[in-house]
Amino acid sequence: MKLKGTNIVIDTAWGDSGKGKFVDVFSHSADLVVRFNGGANAGHTVVNDYGEFKFHLIPTGIFNPNALSILAGSVALSPLTLVSEIEELRKKSVKISEKNLLISEYAHIIMPWHIARDTLRETARGASKVGTTGRGIGPLYADRTERIGVRMGDMLRENFEEIILRELAWQKQLISIMNVNNDDIYGEMLDKDKILADFRAAKEVLAPMIGNPLPIIWKAQKEGANILGEGAQGMLLDIDLGTYPYVTSSHPGITGFSIATGLQQNDIQRVIGVTKAYQTRVGSGPMPTELTGKVGDKLRELGNEYGATTGRPRRCGWLDLPALRYSLQIGGINSIALTKIDILDGMDEIKICTHYEHNSRRYDTLPTADAEFMAEAKPIYKTMPRWQSPTEGIKNFIDFPKEAQKYVKFIEDSVGVKVEIISNGPARNEVFYRIE
Ligand code: IMO
Ligand code: MG
Repeated sequence: MKLKGTNIVIDTAWGDSGKGKFVDVFSHSADLVVRFNGGANAGHTVVNDYGEFKFHLIPTGIFNPNALSILAGSVALSPLTLVSEIEELRKKSVKISEKNLLISEYAHIIMPWHIARDTLRETARGASKVGTTGRGIGPLYADRTERIGVRMGDMLRENFEEIILRELAWQKQLISIMNVNNDDIYGEMLDKDKILADFRAAKEVLAPMIGNPLPIIWKAQKEGANILGEGAQGMLLDIDLGTYPYVTSSHPGITGFSIATGLQQNDIQRVIGVTKAYQTRVGSGPMPTELTGKVGDKLRELGNEYGATTGRPRRCGWLDLPALRYSLQIGGINSIALTKIDILDGMDEIKICTHYEHNSRRYDTLPTADAEFMAEAKPIYKTMPRWQSPTEGIKNFIDFPKEAQKYVKFIEDSVGVKVEIISNGPARNEVFYRIE
């Protein structure tokens, strides 16, 4: 399947919808693939001819030798993670050089102190912890906003090590205040010689790939090239419009793409919202349709719902249409890719949340992702006819069991956005396109 012009792939909920697969498919006809938000908190699973990968940082476009993969300026960039991903790929004969990977000089660098602060803050929060991935994302973006961040372009400066050491000195003070239990591990993490050695080694690998992607992106867009935006996380984890404070610290939707590239909504053909056929969430925060009993466990086992980054079991529940309508609104989404419908093959009962009730009022669309509202909202379900034969292995959407076709139609009719893509398995060819 080929997408023309500029298109972005984002997730309509709390992440883990299966974006990696589509980005992999679409990147084969892309000229540029831009990863535009988040960092190594993401876990994008890709299964293709080279094997199975769980990428945290490297754009999935790296498998297309003719595409330029870009890590944009708003990505929380961990040079160490990136180098290990590059090494893993090179071992599998994927070629990576400045010809196919460009790292924005404006991307802020995840330093060991961000990881330390992430963990210490979570410990301090106790029962109300966010359940972060522990990759330093919040502190990195905090430092960016405070305008004290260190960026990839700084790596190329002669005084890079001085910059690191200056920053390290005061971050150590900050961490010693946060480290109320006097845990030794932070002393090791912040060891000056280790940090310098790690960054020297990372610079060796990454230096030739660091540059300014913006003029390249604009020129490509003007010339009608195919540009693919690869989103991380999901709309309900947006720092402003998500279930604050149980969110990530970036913009996982079109806003994030605009900030990263300087391209605007008018420049974009499709904003594809990847939606799982049921709901999942990893980490804390409200989830109206969560199933805590056996049904939820069954969804988790059938769907293999364990975090790609942290291995944590994901919380599972029925598809939440009010939340989906909200995400379509805030994400500017004009196309839905429905994933993992095959997981519902094994369920004895299938339900879908059509609306919420809150203080005796009906809400078809989530009016706010306010965590308190969402925690109190009562999901109202419609039981959907289950299908008797599997969707797994079926080669055409029209050969799907009638009930499964109805499930898809019910979703698109309910939310008013067409389900243009349906995936019924992890492999690249287990997918149907309804894009004319
Ligand atoms: P992909 O791209 C699912 C969640 C964390 C936590 C919250 C904040 O694979 O879909 P952070 O480490 O970002 O400060 O954690 O966000 N989270 C994700 N959940 N998929 C992801 O990425 C996520 N990235 C962050 O679990 O609740
Ligand atoms: Mg994931």
